[in-house]
Amino acid sequence: MKRIALAAATVAAVTALALTGCSSSGRGGDATASAGAAAGFAADATIGIALPDKTSENWVLAGGLFEDGLKAAGFKADVQYAPASNTVAEQQNQISAMITNGAKVIVIGAKDGKQLGTQLQQAADAGVTVIAYDRLIENTPNVNYYVAFDNFKVGELQGQALLDGLEKRSGHGAPWNVELFSGSPDDANSAVFFNGAMKVLQPKIDDGTLKVVSGQTDIQQTATQGWKAENAQSRMDSLLAANYTSATIDGVLSPNDTLARAIITSVKQAGKNISQFTVTGQDSEAESVKSIMAGEQYSTINKDTSLLVAQTIKMIQSLQKGEAPEVNDTTQYDNGVKVVPAYLLPPVIVTKENAAEAYANSPKLLEIVKAAQ
Ligand code: BGC
Repeated sequence: MKRIALAAATVAAVTALALTGCSSSGRGGDATASAGAAAGFAADATIGIALPDKTSENWVLAGGLFEDGLKAAGFKADVQYAPASNTVAEQQNQISAMITNGAKVIVIGAKDGKQLGTQLQQAADAGVTVIAYDRLIENTPNVNYYVAFDNFKVGELQGQALLDGLEKRSGHGAPWNVELFSGSPDDANSAVFFNGAMKVLQPKIDDGTLKVVSGQTDIQQTATQGWKAENAQSRMDSLLAANYTSATIDGVLSPNDTLARAIITSVKQAGKNISQFTVTGQDSEAESVKSIMAGEQYSTINKDTSLLVAQTIKMIQSLQKGEAPEVNDTTQYDNGVKVVPAYLLPPVIVTKENAAEAYANSPKLLEIVKAAQ
């Protein structure tokens, strides 16, 4: 399958395309992927958007952007969030209801990517196209497309940022004492972020540059159930109490912003020096951008939700016309049953140094950066 390169300028134009209904469709997808695309469907069809619980700001933003973007493109939008309790079952019910109510495409940010097999079979039987959004859906042949930021790259950028921050902030050379955190085990992204980061960090652990004082380096040990801040904070409290009463903690690999702020809270409460401590993040949440500008959190990742939503709407517009949506990766995302054709957007690392440039097109974040300068 030919890799379809897309210039940054085209990415920026996606919103405009979504609004005008114009599409530059590529020949992506395979026979299974284009199932449901062959005939197209009504231009005012209902599109289901099933999002997980609101564990980070990006999910909240996505809901509003899908409502507005789909309406502007002429579709009806049915946007649902899995509620905070009983999320998996509720998301399963929401997806079933979308199928029953005649949605032509269902976009899913999975709460638990391994537990949607029954609902996706139901979707396939009804001729509904399924797009996995941000998180891959696993162990089913019935996910047609995947749209996300390049998650492995996110991990690599986080690993490199941890090394850079240690060098700049710790006030001493290697070796550095660090701890590692990963995301929720029910989210397929968690392993991808962690593996990307470990590609950069493992050689540095092996050569003694980094010392994981607790010895907890595998993904089961580092996991944060439900991506919950309180789980990260209590694990950090325990790590500090068990390993750092006399040793200095120099840095932590954190997979996202919510967890980074919980880790900072724990480190502060233990009376450690935060200005010499490095913690990574992801999502460009407003509170974390403030923290970065205040010299606390070291880095985050910009995964502009508006670009991801616009790319998804562009895919839906292609499907509506009976065309195969454009993809640019047909090798990386094996869900256990098949390689899901994907459209991946490039993530951007952000620190205090490049924040103004990175958020040039994000007025709210730019305001935070300017206010702090
Ligand atoms: C997303 C991250 C987010 C995390 C927790 C992941 O699947 O890719 O952006 O921080 O979920 O909500």
